[in-house]
Amino acid sequence: MLLNGLGDESGSDDGTNGFEILTFLHRVRHVGLSILSIHVGVAISATDATAIYNYPLGSNANYTFALNIPDGSNDLYFHLSGPASYSWVGVGTGARMENSMMIVAYSSADGKNVTVSPRLSSGESEPVYSTSIDVTLLDGTGLANNTMTVNGRCNNCTSWKTGSLDVQSSSQPWNFALGPSGSSVRMLRSDSKTASIERHSKYGVFNVDMVHATGGSGSLPSSYTTSQGTQSETFKSDSNWPSIIHAVAACIAIIFLFPFGAILLRVYPKSVRWHWVNQTLSSCIAIVSLVIGFYLSTQFTKSQSWGSTHQIIGIIILLAIIVQWAMGFWHHLQYKKTQSATKFGVVHRYFGFIVIFLAIINGGIGMSWSYASTGAIVGYSVLVAVVSAVFIGLLGWARLGSRRGAKGFDRQSEEELSDYRTLGDDLNSDMDRATAWR
Ligand code: HEM
Ligand code: HEM
Repeated sequence: MLLNGLGDESGSDDGTNGFEILTFLHRVRHVGLSILSIHVGVAISATDATAIYNYPLGSNANYTFALNIPDGSNDLYFHLSGPASYSWVGVGTGARMENSMMIVAYSSADGKNVTVSPRLSSGESEPVYSTSIDVTLLDGTGLANNTMTVNGRCNNCTSWKTGSLDVQSSSQPWNFALGPSGSSVRMLRSDSKTASIERHSKYGVFNVDMVHATGGSGSLPSSYTTSQGTQSETFKSDSNWPSIIHAVAACIAIIFLFPFGAILLRVYPKSVRWHWVNQTLSSCIAIVSLVIGFYLSTQFTKSQSWGSTHQIIGIIILLAIIVQWAMGFWHHLQYKKTQSATKFGVVHRYFGFIVIFLAIINGGIGMSWSYASTGAIVGYSVLVAVVSAVFIGLLGWARLGSRRGAKGFDRQSEEELSDYRTLGDDLNSDMDRATAWR
């Protein structure tokens, strides 16, 4: 009856696989050893009663999680380790982020130790540090040989505010994740348990035979080379793609396409119509990218209070783009009625450059805020400097040409006039006359 009961726990009726046989044998051994330990005082070794999960990450580096629950205890003895080339390493209960109890580890500020941050997750966004999870750090915790290691005891952790572990389960799901890595990333280094972490570059789910992990009086083995009592479920490479789309689209629209609109008006083909089309399209791209910025803001503890410099400047820029477009449009309507320059046209002309300058600064602030590496920020600065030099050079050249009385800067070319006649619109002439640099 006892054996039947143990066999039934796998909950599987579709044939027996290797993992289940091992699980079954382990339980027989586990029960046997418990009986022995009552009668002759033999304790099972830490290695036998520990579930170990290894995930190879290439270059001889592993993600490792190991778990032991002492007999009759609610404490979790755990080992968590992973390469320090990832910004952080983490483990969590359950197959999803939602309601998961997580342990996240990252380098300390001096790069010589690890900071261990127990967190609770409410869904697919940054888990929040929680003082309700009590972790005691044990020997072996630290950062050495490019590996972050945590040996710890999570006290009374079989249940937490938003969930619990099934310690009888042969396949209790756990999840793991690794922070960003690579040359474009600045590694997180902080002594604060509430430090903001970036979205994972890898995550996965594995199952733990909790019965295999139970036994002994609480200790961890010294070696974790072979997986035991665990089974890999899923593994996924990930990236913070909304952040990439937000950054690339905002920079292309505001730092590249907006000045390009000034070239269309002043250098070639000196067309108000093309200026208007370009600025309208780039405003739409900018607005979509900034709306993605609003979504991103809901993902991180650092941005959920909406008070950071990057967000405030970004929101000012968003409003400025709308005002800038409206001023151009209003100027055009007024010009149609009065055939003369308006003050909106003049403000529109200079305000545009202020918006572009603010956006350049805000892009740099955003990168630093998202832990971009110094190399990536230098690359951004060089690119912006080159693009700005080309645009300023072209506009300066066109302005000089107009001062020397070159045709076309403040007079519409025949080609453009015929274009505008075809459209039945007077856009070309009005903007040009009203805003020409004289
Ligand atoms: C800033 C921190 C984090 C953010 C913004 C974040 C965000 C997300 C997002 C957007 C997804 C869905 C991805 C997809 O559809 O492919 C996801 C999935 C997942 N994340 Fe995170 N995550 C963070 C931290 C963590 C941590 C610390 C862990 C574990 C230790 C973790 C484990 C997982 C797992 C297992 C999934 C797949 C299951 C699920 O969708 O819930 N995440 N995360
Ligand atoms: C001109 C306006 C803006 C520009 C040029 C801009 C550009 C950037 C850049 C370059 C990054 C770095 C991305 C990375 O390194 O992965 C970033 C990050 C971010 N931006 Fe913006 N942004 C602007 C406006 C906004 C606005 C209006 C918001 C929301 C109110 C916002 C929210 C964010 C957030 C939350 C991040 C952090 C993402 C992370 O940590 O992964 N941004 N932005």
